[in-house]
Amino acid sequence: MGKVFFRSIVLETEEVYEPREDSFLFAHFLENLDLKGKKILEIGCGSGLLSILCSKGKAEVTAVDINEKAVECTLQNAEKNGCKIKAFQSDLFSFVQGKFDIILFNSPYLPVDEEKEWSAGEGSELILKFIENCKIHLFPNGRVLLLISSLTGLEKVLQAFRQEGFKTKSVAEESLFFEKILLLEASQ
Ligand SMILES: C[S@@+](CC[C@H](N)C(=O)[O-])C[C@H]1O[C@@H](n2cnc3c(N)ncnc32)[C@H](O)[C@@H]1O
Repeated sequence: MGKVFFRSIVLETEEVYEPREDSFLFAHFLENLDLKGKKILEIGCGSGLLSILCSKGKAEVTAVDINEKAVECTLQNAEKNGCKIKAFQSDLFSFVQGKFDIILFNSPYLPVDEEKEWSAGEGSELILKFIENCKIHLFPNGRVLLLISSLTGLEKVLQAFRQEGFKTKSVAEESLFFEKILLLEASQ
């Protein structure tokens, strides 16, 4: 069984996306934010690393994933790391109710044949659908943190945020072997 460590967090990752550079770039950014009392929604929680980190930062966390194994894994990892997280299966926002201060999404950004069940499919349709649905789940001063790859089609993503009335900036970046990963912050 795969085990991944981040600070004091220990994660079991059997049959789910194993946290790697993208997850850690996101995690490093989150651990420097003041999340106390914030209502946070994570879309695509995988093994739960980002949600657990937010919960340790005293945020109230809801985590969803389309993959039921990821939901189970997040709940088990949360419990093992002494965190209380609400997690359930959902295709993006389909079963999500209510509004949040921050919505997180480390998106499945590689083309279909390069990843398995966590793939987004060709193009960036999933990410565009995500952006279209953010606003109704955000409080007025809420923001979105979305991690994408330079392979995703950055211009399309930025344009989609603009169309929804968001300002965007890149808050963290890392160059990998064949791509660059970017963490975008979108605010209204
Ligand atoms: C790149 S992984 C990120 C996992 C974890 N958040 C991390 O940072 O390590 C993307 C996750 O999105 C999930 N996912 C893919 N399509 C989804 C959808 N339509 N709705 C919700 N989650 C989805 C995948 O199952 C996967 O767990």
